[in-house]
Amino acid sequence: MTAPLIDPFQRAISYLRVSVTDRCDFRCVYCMAENMTFLPKKELLTLEELDRLCSTFVRLGVEKLRITGGEPLVRRDIMKFFNSMSRHLESGALKELTLTTNGSQLERFADDLYAAGVRRVNVSLDTLDEQKFADVTRWGRLPQVLRGIDAAQKAGLRVKLNAVALKGFNEPELFDIVEWCASRDMDLTWIEVMPMGDLGNEDRLDQYWSLKDLRRQLAERYTLTDLTERTGGPARYVRIEETGQKIGFITPLTHNFCESCNRVRLTCTGELFMCLGQEDRADLRAPLRMSDNDALLENAIRDAIKLKPKGHDFDYSRQTVAGQMTRHMSHTGG
Ligand code: GTP
Ligand code: 5AD
Ligand code: SF4
Repeated sequence: MTAPLIDPFQRAISYLRVSVTDRCDFRCVYCMAENMTFLPKKELLTLEELDRLCSTFVRLGVEKLRITGGEPLVRRDIMKFFNSMSRHLESGALKELTLTTNGSQLERFADDLYAAGVRRVNVSLDTLDEQKFADVTRWGRLPQVLRGIDAAQKAGLRVKLNAVALKGFNEPELFDIVEWCASRDMDLTWIEVMPMGDLGNEDRLDQYWSLKDLRRQLAERYTLTDLTERTGGPARYVRIEETGQKIGFITPLTHNFCESCNRVRLTCTGELFMCLGQEDRADLRAPLRMSDNDALLENAIRDAIKLKPKGHDFDYSRQTVAGQMTRHMSHTGG
């Protein structure tokens, strides 16, 4: 029996987030610069290499695999990878194979994802207003995403919406978004905007809407019951008694959840990031390419996990953006 991955703070690593591409067909303002330069394709791990790495993590005790990007569904032949990973679901080693997507390609892929064993998808959607959607994604088309969500639900996938809480942007839509999700039997998670990427002229502090305040607004209208159940990610959930739906809160800023962190992040170039809000990382591409010996790769992963820090350094306190990461979210897959 292989020993599980335990970090220096006694946290078991059972969740791997894998960014399969840094590319995306949108350019959400808090995620990417408008004029992003993407990695040359030859820098990327091949799908076979990604498969070998992920399978090694599964052998080391990873039970939840979330495919991210960029936008994972724009990677060529990505279904080959999902189809191949599904063998770990069948063997019982993997409990969940899932993805976080902007929804733009879901209409095309929903049935295939279900067939590969995916049962749940998280779709990033910050507004239900077509113009605002085009603004925040810089050119995305809302109807295309809505068709994607329809297709996913029709295919039998459970859809959860991820909305980044943006002051003055989707704040006025809070109840509309909640009720729209309820009407479609969808859960919803709100995320505090993190100070990542090249801020340029943007000011994350101006955009920052704390989930403490969002929750207070919800509680003024609805009866909220705290839930203890989790989904293996960082969100904490409440149930809205009036609608029956679950609302998640991802609060890196107002409530640090690092003490129960179970995750690491693999980039599309084979770097393993130990934390979204820290630079600690290890190169897994070199040991991957150096030899076919999986024991070497396992050792490299175990050594990497020793670098996992206690927590992130994001901080908006004292009304300044301290702890900003210049890395773009799309690089590490959120
Ligand atoms: P569930 O399986 O539904 O719980 O999803 P998840 O929250 O694990 O995954 P998802 O991709 O929906 O994550 C939503 C967002 O939460 C990410 O894109 C990040 O913005 C944020 N997030 C997830 N993990 C961490 C983390 O360890 N630290 C920080 N700061 N943010 C995180
Ligand atoms: N802060 C918070 N969430 C972000 N995401 C992307 N950039 C940021 C940021 N700076 C979210 C996306 C998506 C998920 C993968 O990460 O909206 O839901
Ligand atoms: Fe693309 Fe997601 Fe980043 Fe938006 S948040 S630009 S959809 S990777």
